[in-house]
Amino acid sequence: MKLPEYHVRLPRLDPEGFKRVLRERRASYEPRFLSGVWRFEELLPRLPSEAIVTLAEGNVPLYESPRGARYAGCDALAYLHLGMNPSGSFKDLGMTVAVSAAKAAGARGVACASTGNTASSMAAYASRAGLNAYALVPRGRVSTSKLAQIYDYGAEVVEVDGSFDDAFARLDGTNDGAVTIVNSVNPYRLEGQKCAAFALLEARGWRVPDWVFVPGGNLGNSAAIGKGFREALELGFIDRLPRLAVVQAAGAAPFARAWSARADLVPVVPQTSASAIAVGSPKSWRKALYEVDASGGVVIAVDDDAIDDAKAAIGAEGIGCEPASAAALAGARALRDESVLRPDADVVAVLTGHTLKDPDAILRIHASRPRYEARAL
Ligand code: F0G
Repeated sequence: MKLPEYHVRLPRLDPEGFKRVLRERRASYEPRFLSGVWRFEELLPRLPSEAIVTLAEGNVPLYESPRGARYAGCDALAYLHLGMNPSGSFKDLGMTVAVSAAKAAGARGVACASTGNTASSMAAYASRAGLNAYALVPRGRVSTSKLAQIYDYGAEVVEVDGSFDDAFARLDGTNDGAVTIVNSVNPYRLEGQKCAAFALLEARGWRVPDWVFVPGGNLGNSAAIGKGFREALELGFIDRLPRLAVVQAAGAAPFARAWSARADLVPVVPQTSASAIAVGSPKSWRKALYEVDASGGVVIAVDDDAIDDAKAAIGAEGIGCEPASAAALAGARALRDESVLRPDADVVAVLTGHTLKDPDAILRIHASRPRYEARAL
């Protein structure tokens, strides 16, 4: 099913007045304001309040990380930990809006193709909404924790031979419109996920970082976060854009290649141990490209070993994340090595998934590497 582009007409707001309203909402117990998405309701698609399905998503910490800064070689680095969401990943910010919109439209069910996190999130929100949920996942390539979550939240699982891209093709090809697709091709998803940018700025007292690093797979999140920063600028909440750095795994980096060559994206067969971002034909690459270019950003690729190393460093600081998320820190270090990132840079790395999303990866990484605290960090 092809969804129409969704455009939210931004209201005229007094920036300082609205920031005050946001502070009041954070302190309130009104159920929808307990959500770090619906707190920004003026900036979201209008939906009837009885359709809104929320799990109090979006209220995630911004952790200052002096050790991460040393690791990347810059003055200041903080993690926006979107893995601290109800289903353990950033997907919840988009899913609350996509599932609420599906409910408002009278959908009978929702479906997605997924490397695991989209499906876990969809399963949770669909069950809360009383909708059926169908998850198409690549057989043998989804972590045990994510599969367990999908079953636990009551979705139907269809295992497809091949990669995420094969699962997506199957979903697109067989859907006769009876269910709403809630992958990030669904524009409501991006509207919710853009709130990560608002939350990041809000947590910093609206001080704009120099760079924001985001791991890239299907590229919905990079597109959404870039959109959020642009809207914050348009609304007068901030006076410049942070530069957006999208980081892909080297074995699944068609966007990095297209960006460097200034050419159209050529799909690849994805091959990376960061299973969440094993996507060879990202659907939102044009939207993400627009945001990278608008912000003066970059797209880079880092290999699995660099991702594992960064993941061990994040874990050794008591923060933790899943492998795909660690690409953000690995990317900052790589950009510093290339002298694109200046030593005095103020950086935010977006951690997209919780450390318990992929315990097998943790055991694999630590079986082959000295304990991290033994190293000088
Ligand atoms: N980090 C994690 C932990 C993810 O699960 C994903 C995507 C990404 C980063 C990349 O975000 O796709 O918007 O560029 N996971 C999808 C899924 C593919 O099915 O859960 P993106």
